[in-house]
Amino acid sequence: MAKKTVVELINITKKYFYPQGEIEVLRGINLKVQEKDKIAIVGPSGVGKTTLLNIIGTLDYPTSGEIYFFEKKLDYSNEERLLSLRKKNIGFIFQLHYLIPEFTVIENVTLPGLISQWEKDKCLERAYKLLKKLNLSGKENYKPFRLSGGERQKVAIARALFLNPSLLLADEPTGNLDQESAKEVIEIFLKINEELGTTIIMVTHNWELAKKMNKIFLLKNGFLIKLENA
Ligand SMILES: Nc1ncnc2c1ncn2[C@@H]1O[C@H](COP(=O)(O)OP(=O)(O)O)[C@@H](O)[C@H]1O
Ligand SMILES: [Mg+2]
Repeated sequence: MAKKTVVELINITKKYFYPQGEIEVLRGINLKVQEKDKIAIVGPSGVGKTTLLNIIGTLDYPTSGEIYFFEKKLDYSNEERLLSLRKKNIGFIFQLHYLIPEFTVIENVTLPGLISQWEKDKCLERAYKLLKKLNLSGKENYKPFRLSGGERQKVAIARALFLNPSLLLADEPTGNLDQESAKEVIEIFLKINEELGTTIIMVTHNWELAKKMNKIFLLKNGFLIKLENA
């Protein structure tokens, strides 16, 4: 059976405007992301990786071009629909974990459920299950300061997975981690991809980790270049 297309970008451009002129960061991006894909996007600082990821995640909009989610064109004029699409389908992980320091691990992880007005028991059940999957059992009542960098990032992953997104977007998720924790985070991505079927797009500087994905793209001069045999 043919794989479903999760998201498709057609001729996406992005310009930023400054008083002294404009820069065109993305100059014509075409990308088809299929169900269960594991994609790495690599490239030096400042080439537009975060811009591209934010556009895919509907946190930002392109200057021109079209984006289709599950074959349906994104309509930027409908903020409510965008929000609902994002909530139902997309999980985000950033370089910094952005956990709430005053909240415990379990409270941080259940946040998306509480915002979505799930019942508290259902939230807790889901959070315990996710934390177990990520080898964080026993740390549910810790506050983030008591965790290692790798553990904090795993809590952020659990939070991103809480609503079971079809697409996980990770922007340099291992940028602040030692090699050991970075490897563990990638192993988790592979496990999630395998067991839950989550599609993953990850921006990384780490070539070793990029190679664990099944497609690698280099962002250069505003274009995505597929690296073959990577
Ligand atoms: N919101 C913004 N407004 C203006 N310029 C921006 C904005 N976001 C990013 N840029 C510029 O766009 C370029 C690409 O940035 P970014 O997407 O963060 O690159 P990367 O993630 O590859 O380091 C940089 O030159 C950056 O200064
Ligand atoms: Mg970036």
